[in-house]
Amino acid sequence: MRIGVFCSGGDAPGMNACVMAVVRAANHHGHQVVGIKRGYQGLLEEDFFLNTAGQPVLTLRRASVWSQFGGAFLRSSRSDEFRTEQGQQKAAEILRRHDIDGLIAIGGDGTFQGAVALSKFWDGQIIGCPGTIDNDLVGTDYTIGFSTAVQTAVEAVDKIRDTAWSHDRMFLIEVMGRHSGYIAAYTAIATGADAIAIPETETDCKGIVRYLQHLKSQGKNSTIMIVAEGDERGGVSEIIEHLENEGCPYPMRTVVLGHLQRGGTPTPEDRRRATQMGAAAVKAILNGQTGMMAGTRDDQCVLTPLVDTFASHRTIPPSVLELLHEMTG
Ligand code: F6P
Repeated sequence: MRIGVFCSGGDAPGMNACVMAVVRAANHHGHQVVGIKRGYQGLLEEDFFLNTAGQPVLTLRRASVWSQFGGAFLRSSRSDEFRTEQGQQKAAEILRRHDIDGLIAIGGDGTFQGAVALSKFWDGQIIGCPGTIDNDLVGTDYTIGFSTAVQTAVEAVDKIRDTAWSHDRMFLIEVMGRHSGYIAAYTAIATGADAIAIPETETDCKGIVRYLQHLKSQGKNSTIMIVAEGDERGGVSEIIEHLENEGCPYPMRTVVLGHLQRGGTPTPEDRRRATQMGAAAVKAILNGQTGMMAGTRDDQCVLTPLVDTFASHRTIPPSVLELLHEMTG
């Protein structure tokens, strides 16, 4: 059997570990892996990872130590051409021509929408692995890259706190999460932030300023607010204006952490989860499954129909929201 694997959408630390696990598991069961570079766009351009003999085979020798590296050695992209039916038909024809029987797509909701679209024109098996720092996919309690992104954000906030403290300032720090406050929530809890803005709850700027005034009156001279980029009030540049208009008692500065959160050495958690999911994806293909995502629940691998993973976004558990509420006034 020939199994294609690719990374698509925003890269996430741990994607390489997932690819490594796919190669190891497939080879273990006597199957071959084709590494497709740059996601759907690379597939359309037949851009394969070549071995030393110039063949499109991703060998264990090449991928066996990938787990410790951030980024995506297979590269990643978002493809406009693949969004068209013509592009999907072309991709299906390429997969047939290269005798690929199964495909493992590592990415987020856009990647899985693409996989479902492709399955209309290709009758090979497709399994997804959840790879996005946002941790917002339905059907899994974890997505590859989340732990590293939070670790990076926490390290950055700790550093910013030093200068916030020295200058008696408030810092609004924007973290990633287009539709989700997961990174913001976990970062705020881990850093002891005083305020947070996430899309899952209404951001009440008046209430936040009231709480900040209370903190100031208690003698707290500097403070940190974590803002998810997808908050309904906007990012830090919009929220700072709202706080100013409401009479925020601190001099404010903003920091956007941005793509910093997508890089770096994957944490052991990301490497382990990615390995588990990559191996589960291969197992699913060998068991004849298709159109499913190999995620986890309570540390056990679970398969969820791909169509369910992007129908909505995974919400933050009420217990985490309650904790945030208590911690941030
Ligand atoms: O989906 C992952 C993510 O990092 C989001 O948090 C962010 O909004 C988006 O990707 C950024 O995408 P791009 O790299 O295309 O700017």
